[in-house]
Amino acid sequence: MDDYRSMFDLSGETVLLTGASRGGLGHFTALALADLGATLVVSDIASRAEDLAATVKAVEERCHDTQISAVACDVSNSSDVDALVQQASERMGSVSVLVHHAGVMLRGPAIGTELSDWQRVIDINLTGTWLLNRAVAVGMLAAGRGSIVNTSTLYAQIVGPIPESAYYASKAGVANLSRGLAMEWGPQGVRVNCLAPGVFYPTEMTAPLAASPERLAQRSARTMVGRLGDPEADLAGVVAFLASSASRYVTGQVLYADGGWSAW
Ligand SMILES: NC(=O)c1ccc[n+]([C@@H]2O[C@H](COP(=O)([O-])OP(=O)(O)OC[C@H]3O[C@@H](n4cnc5c(N)ncnc54)[C@H](O)[C@@H]3O)[C@@H](O)[C@H]2O)c1
Repeated sequence: MDDYRSMFDLSGETVLLTGASRGGLGHFTALALADLGATLVVSDIASRAEDLAATVKAVEERCHDTQISAVACDVSNSSDVDALVQQASERMGSVSVLVHHAGVMLRGPAIGTELSDWQRVIDINLTGTWLLNRAVAVGMLAAGRGSIVNTSTLYAQIVGPIPESAYYASKAGVANLSRGLAMEWGPQGVRVNCLAPGVFYPTEMTAPLAASPERLAQRSARTMVGRLGDPEADLAGVVAFLASSASRYVTGQVLYADGGWSAW
């Protein structure tokens, strides 16, 4: 081993990052990966173009040398996903790292949820992950290397106090899909892991918690560290670890960054 300090270095890696708009975890992931030297293709749905541009601007202001490009994509749409991966490769070279944060939440009891709403959550969270993983893996397998980081939740194997069965089911699926693809692609040098964030606040997804200081306090108390995750500081190191060669012998894993919530 020549230099342990370079293990987190992402220079020379083309990272495709979804869910990258201002207001979410992906915004800070973009800043962290740029700091580590990555070339970035950031993506989100077309309706978030302004917020995605805000992430590009923030990266450019922070890291003047970073090559970054934005591409709109609905991850539940197969042809959109194929176009995203093709455009990413054309603009920045073949994708060697995927960090896939895009996802949606659906709060509410199963009885009363429309089939179309259930289907939308499964399409975006689970099928979208499958589509995107498959699309980037083609180039990675040809290159004989690659790292895929999917995003589940601390509810990958357990459930929480609020009825969100479509979300729980879709995110448990993301965790086991990651294990399945890790098994398929491991021999050819492509690793697939899964992040399991605890409650990170505030983001677009967790913003509704603002209406209830009592629920916020309950969730903080449920962790071992007595606080919620900070979107700016508490996930970046875990993403960097899984994306980079620091985790070169780690695959098929679900890595919890939840302040200890899931451990008791
Ligand atoms: N914030 C948390 O506490 C928390 C906890 C556990 C897991 N997560 C997961 O982390 C990820 C990011 O969450 P966040 O808190 O930043 O939420 P967020 O809502 O801010 O980010 C999700 C992003 O996904 C994008 N998106 C939604 N539908 C899409 C589609 N069809 N195609 C492409 N992009 C689409 C949204 O526009 C948004 O930018 C999600 O997968 C979420 O489930 C978040």
